[in-house]
Amino acid sequence: PVAPLTDGHGRRITYLRLSVTDRCDLRCRYCMAEEMQFLPRSAVLSIEEMGALAERFVARGVRRIRLTGGEPLVRRGIDLLAARLGALIGRGLDELTLTTNGMRLAEHAPMLAEAGVRRINVSLDTLAPDAFRHITRIGELATALRGIAAARAAGLAVKINMVALAGLNEDQLLPMLDWCAANGCDLTLIETMPLGEVADDRSDHYIPLHHFIAPLRADRAIFPVDRRTGGPARYFGIEDSPVTLGLITPLSDNFCATCNRIRLTVEGRIYMCLGQDDHVDLRAALREGDDVDGLIDAALAGKPRAHDFQIERKSTPAVARHMSATGG
Ligand code: GTP
Ligand code: 5AD
Ligand code: SF4
Repeated sequence: PVAPLTDGHGRRITYLRLSVTDRCDLRCRYCMAEEMQFLPRSAVLSIEEMGALAERFVARGVRRIRLTGGEPLVRRGIDLLAARLGALIGRGLDELTLTTNGMRLAEHAPMLAEAGVRRINVSLDTLAPDAFRHITRIGELATALRGIAAARAAGLAVKINMVALAGLNEDQLLPMLDWCAANGCDLTLIETMPLGEVADDRSDHYIPLHHFIAPLRADRAIFPVDRRTGGPARYFGIEDSPVTLGLITPLSDNFCATCNRIRLTVEGRIYMCLGQDDHVDLRAALREGDDVDGLIDAALAGKPRAHDFQIERKSTPAVARHMSATGG
C-alpha cells in the first residue's frame, strides 16, 4: 500500500488530468501557433503505459480523471483507454470525463457513454460560422454542433467551454446561453491564459469575466449555486434559464488555494501547475521498472502554492509550453 497523494501545502490531490496526445485537428488562435511542432511518436506513452500509470494514481487516491489533449479523440486507441479507465469507476474512481473540441465527437460519443463517461466538456467559443473559422483557423462550426448533438443523443451531459475573447466573441454570450438552454447544455466561461507564444498578443483579447458577463447581468439576475465538479469553475444559476453558468477566472480571481490536481502528459511528465514549467519525468522510470511512486511524491512536494499568470502588453508568456501540451 502506498500513501495517498498530498502536496507540500497539505492539499489532497484527487483529480488527474491525463493528456493523451499533444496533437489537435484545430489550431485555436489563443491556444496554438499556426505551425506547431508535435512530438515524435517515439516520445509518447503507449495506451498501455497511460493505462498503467492512471491505475497507479487511482490506487493512490485519485477520484476523477479527465482525458485531455491536444484533442483526445485524435489519439489512436482512445477507445481502449476509455474502456480500461471506465472499468475503474466504482472501484476507486468516481468519474471519468473528457474535454474535446467536438470535431470527432459524432463518431466517438457512443463509445464514451459505453465506457462509463457521463459528462463531457466541449470547447465552443462562438456560434457564428465565420468567427468559428477565424478562431479555430481550420474548423467548421457545423461539425462541432453535430458532435454535440450526437453526445446528447448518446446520453452524455455536455458543458460548453467558451474562452472569453475581447473583440472576437463578446457578442456571443447571450446567443450562446439561449443555444445552451435550447440544446440541454451548461456553459462555462474561461479567461484566456498566457501559455506559449501565439500569433496574437493575448492582451488584445483578454477580458475579465466580470466585464464579459456585464450584458447578461444587465438583463437577468445571476446567483451562486452549489455545484462541484472538482474543477476550478464557480457556478451560478441564471434567472429564467435552465443553464448553469461556470466562471473560470485564473487572472481576475485565482482559485489556487483549493487546487486538487496534477497533470500527466503524453510524454509521461507530471506538471505540478498549469502556470509553471517545472515537471517530473516518469517515462524512463516506468520503462525501466524504477520507483515511479517515489517520483510522484517528489513531484507533489514541489507543487507551487499558486500560479503567477499575468497578461501584459507584448509580454512573453510566463510559460513557454502551449496549453495543448497539457490539455489545460
Ligand atoms: P470540470 O470542472 O470537471 O467540469 O472540468 P474543468 O473545467 O476543470 O476542465 P476543462 O478541461 O473543461 O477545463 C476548463 C478550463 O479550466 C481550461 O481552460 C483549463 O485550462 C482550466 N483549468 C483547469 N484546471 C485548471 C487549473 O488547475 N488552473 C488553471 N489556471 N486553469 C485550469
Ligand atoms: N487560455 C484559456 N483557455 C484555453 N484553452 C485552450 N487554450 C487556452 C488558453 N490559452 C481552453 C480550450 C478548452 C480548454 C481545455 O482550455 O478552449 O476548452
Ligand atoms: Fe485544439 Fe483545444 Fe487547442 Fe483548440 S484549444 S487548438 S481544440 S487543443
